[in-house]
Amino acid sequence: STAENNTQIINPEMADVPLHEPSEINSKINLKDYKKPSFDVETVDLDIKLFAGYALVDSKLVMQRQAAGDLVLNGEDVELMAITLDGETLATERYKQADGKLIISDAPDTLTLELQVRIHPQTNTALEGLYMAGSGSDTMFVTQCEPEGFRKITFYPDRPDVLAIFTTRLEADKRYPTLLSNGNLVEEGDVTDAPDRHYAIWHDPTNKPSYLFACVAADLDVLTDYHTTSEGREVTLEVFAKSTDIDKCHVGMQALKDSMVWDEVNYGRAYDLDRYMIVAVSQFNMGAMENKGLNIFNTACVLSSPETTTDARSFNVKAVIAHEYFHNWTGNRITCRDWFQLCLKEGLTVFRDQSFSADQQSSAVQRIDDVATLRAHQFAEDAGPLAHPVRPESFVEINNFYTTTIYEKGAEIVRMLANTLGPDNFRRGTDEYFRRYDGQAVTVEDFLSALSITDSKIEEFIAWYRQPGTPILSGHQHYDSATQTLTITLSQQTRHVAGFDAPIPLPIPVATALFDKATGTIIAERMLMLDQAQQTFSFDNVSSEPVVSLLRDFSAPVQLNYDYQDEDLAFLLTHETNGFNRWQVTQMLVNRILLQSNDSKVYLQALAKTLPTLAVTDPMLAARLLDIPSAQELASAIHQNYDPVLIKQQRDRLYSQVAESLKDQWTILYNQLPLEVYSDSPEALGKRALRNVVLDMALTAGISEAGKWAQQQYDNASCMTERFGALKAMVNYQVTGSDDYLADFYQRFQDDELVIDLWFSVQASAEHVTTDDIQTLLERDDFDWNTPNRIRSVISAFTAQPTVLWTPEGLDIYTSVIKKMDEANPVLASRLLQVLARWYTLVEPRRHMAQDHLNALQQQVSSKHVLESLASVLGA
Ligand code: PHE
Ligand code: ZN
Repeated sequence: STAENNTQIINPEMADVPLHEPSEINSKINLKDYKKPSFDVETVDLDIKLFAGYALVDSKLVMQRQAAGDLVLNGEDVELMAITLDGETLATERYKQADGKLIISDAPDTLTLELQVRIHPQTNTALEGLYMAGSGSDTMFVTQCEPEGFRKITFYPDRPDVLAIFTTRLEADKRYPTLLSNGNLVEEGDVTDAPDRHYAIWHDPTNKPSYLFACVAADLDVLTDYHTTSEGREVTLEVFAKSTDIDKCHVGMQALKDSMVWDEVNYGRAYDLDRYMIVAVSQFNMGAMENKGLNIFNTACVLSSPETTTDARSFNVKAVIAHEYFHNWTGNRITCRDWFQLCLKEGLTVFRDQSFSADQQSSAVQRIDDVATLRAHQFAEDAGPLAHPVRPESFVEINNFYTTTIYEKGAEIVRMLANTLGPDNFRRGTDEYFRRYDGQAVTVEDFLSALSITDSKIEEFIAWYRQPGTPILSGHQHYDSATQTLTITLSQQTRHVAGFDAPIPLPIPVATALFDKATGTIIAERMLMLDQAQQTFSFDNVSSEPVVSLLRDFSAPVQLNYDYQDEDLAFLLTHETNGFNRWQVTQMLVNRILLQSNDSKVYLQALAKTLPTLAVTDPMLAARLLDIPSAQELASAIHQNYDPVLIKQQRDRLYSQVAESLKDQWTILYNQLPLEVYSDSPEALGKRALRNVVLDMALTAGISEAGKWAQQQYDNASCMTERFGALKAMVNYQVTGSDDYLADFYQRFQDDELVIDLWFSVQASAEHVTTDDIQTLLERDDFDWNTPNRIRSVISAFTAQPTVLWTPEGLDIYTSVIKKMDEANPVLASRLLQVLARWYTLVEPRRHMAQDHLNALQQQVSSKHVLESLASVLGA
C-alpha cells in the first residue's frame, strides 16, 4: 500500500529552480565519511596571555592513539610560534601545515605535544574563537567556540568526539579584574615582574569537547546566589554583567534556580560542579552558549527588568537561561559524536526548555507561541531551497546549520516521541539515555535506542530525522448512521526534496477528539497513529455525526488539510477544551480567508461570540485569538507569484474588518483593562498583552480617543510592555506627536543599548517605513556595525515589511549589508541571507529583480558561509 498511495509531490514552488550541486564549493563534509579520531586527548593545559595587540596561547596536550592514522590538529588564523613533541622541538619536516590543519604523520602512540601560537583577539570581528568585545575603555575578552571556534584559539583536534580534561591559566592586565574559565578556580595571583598583570588558574574536572571551552577577561560586577542540589551539593550561582546592568540580572538568576529544580524533579538531573557562571556580553552572534560551568550570554537573552524589558523578551530570557542550563545534561555530559548530530542536543534541549516554559505560564499559550514560530519559520525553511533533514547528511560550513529545522523541528520530533511513549515510559527512556551514555559523544540512533527500551517501534521515528520537507496530512470523514460508525481516512504526502531519497511515510501521531454537535462535549478521544501513506480509522457507537478535532496540541509538525466546513471550525472555536486547539482553528479560518478567499463572516461572528467572555477569563489567550499571521508568515504559504503588495492589502483588509466588526468591544475592553501597578503574575501579563492588542485594534477602527489612550499609556506606563506597546502603536499609526514620543523614548533610555535596539527596530519595522528611513538609521553614529543586536534591530526588523524589502532599493540595502558582513562576520552575513531564500516565489518583475541582486551578490562575497547559502538559495 505504501508505494501506491505515497505519490510524491514535486513541489510546485520548486518547479523553476534549477537544482544542481553547488559547484564552487567542493569541500563538502559527509556524514557517511565519519571516522573515529586517531588520537584522543587526555589532558590539556592552556596558558592564555592577553596583551595589548595580540595574545599568546601555550598548550600542552597529552595524547593517546586510538586508531591508525595521522595526528591531525585544526587551526585557523593562528600563527605557530613553537612546537615540541615529548619535550623535543619538532623538526619542520616532521609536520605539515595546510588548509587549516597541522598534521604529524609519524606520531608515537602516546605523546605530549606542546605548542605556542599567536592570535589577534583585538581584530577578530567574526565573534568566533577569542575576541575582544566592546570599544574604547569599555572592552572585554570573551570566547565562542561552538562549533569550530576553538581552532581559532590554538591548534587542536577540534571535534566534538574528542573529550579532555582542561586546566586553563588566564593572564591579563589588571584592567580586567574578572578572569574566568570552566570548572573550579584553583589559584589566582599577581604576575612576577609585571605589576600591572595578574592571572587565574581554572580546572574543569569533567571531560569535555573543545567546543565547550570558554574563558573571559573583563571588568564586571557579579550577582551571587546559591542552590543546594537534590544530591546535596552546594552550588554557587554567579551572573556577571557590567555594573550598570547588574540590577537587571535578578530575573535570570531566578530562572536559573527554577531550572535547576525543574531538571531535578522532571528528569532526575542535578548539577555537577560547585559553581555555575553566566556572563553577559553585548556582542554575540547567537542567543547564548552552554560552555561547561561558564555560559556566555548575549545581553539580550539575560538582562531583564520591568522598566526596560517587554514581557515577551523577559519570558525569552527565562527560556534561554533554562535552555543553556538544561544543556549541562543534554549536550555537555552527553554530547554529539559529530556535528551532523547537532539536533541530538538542540532538539532535545529545546523540547526541555519548552516544557519548562509551559510549566511557568499557561501551557496553551506556550504551545501557541512555539507552534506559531515553527509554522512561520521552520515550515518556510522546509518548503524552500534551504530545506534539510533534522539530521543533515552533508555540509560545507556547519555554522549554516544552526537552523530552525535542527532546533524547532528537532524539538517537535522529541515531543512526538514523548507523547507516543507517555510520561512514564518517556522518563524511563531518558533515564536509560543518561545511564548509558553519560560522558560520551553519541548519535541520534543511540538516543532512539535508549528511548525504545519500553517500545521498539519508537526507532521508526528515525525517518523523521532523515527526511526533509513538511508532511501534508489530508483527511476526510464518513459517518454511517445505520452502523453508528464514524470513519476517518487520513493520508500523508511529503514533497521530494532534490538530492534526497523519495519520501517514505512517517509515523504521524494525530491526537483526535470527537465532539457531539448537540451538546458540544467530547464523546471520544484517541491518538491515531498514521504510519502508512493512507489509513482509515473507525469509531463505533457514535450516535450522530460529530465534529472531529484533529492534531490537537499540534501532535505532529505537519500541515493539516482536512475537509472542514468553516462552521465546523467555528464550532470548535467555541467548544474545544484546550486553548491551543481554539487558536489553531481560528488560524485555519484566517488562512482560508486570506489564502483561499473564503468569506470572513463565520470567523468574525465566532470571534464576536468568544471574545467578550474570554477577555475576562483568559486575557492572554484572548490576545492570541486575535492573531492574524504576519505578512512574512503568509508569504511562506504562497508558492508562486507571491505579490507582497496584494498580500499586504488582503491582510490589512482582514485586520480592518476585525477591528470594525468588534468596534464597540475595543472601548469596553480598553476601559476594563486600566493600567495597574506592575506585577509579573500571569494574569497581569495577560492583561498587558490584551491591552496592547486592543489599542492597536482601536486605532485601526479609527476610534477617535485611541490616539489619546496611546499617549496616556506611554506617559503613565509602569513597565516596558506598556510603554513600548504604546510607542509602537503611535509610530505605526503616525499618531500626532509620535515623533516627540520617539525622541522622549530615546532620551529616557539612551544609556541602555538593548532599549535603543527597540528604538531602532520600532522604526525599521514601521508600517510606513521607506528605504530612506532605513538608510538614515544605518548612517547614525549610534548604529554600530560590530554589534549583531544593533544590525538585526534595523536589518532584520526591516524584513517585517516585504513590500519595501522586495524592491530594488530595499534589496540594495539588504544585500549591501550582507556584503559588508561577509568578511567581518560571515556567520551573521549568512544568517541574514537565509531570510531571502524564497525570492523565487515572487511575482514578476520582482522575481527577476531579486535574482539579479543575488547574482550580483555572488560576485562580491568570499566566505564559504555565504557562498554555501547563496548556492542553495540560487539553486545554482
Ligand atoms: N549552542 C547554543 C545554544 O543553542 C547556540 C550557539 C551556537 C551559540 C553556535 C553560539 C554559537 O544554546
Ligand atoms: Zn542549544
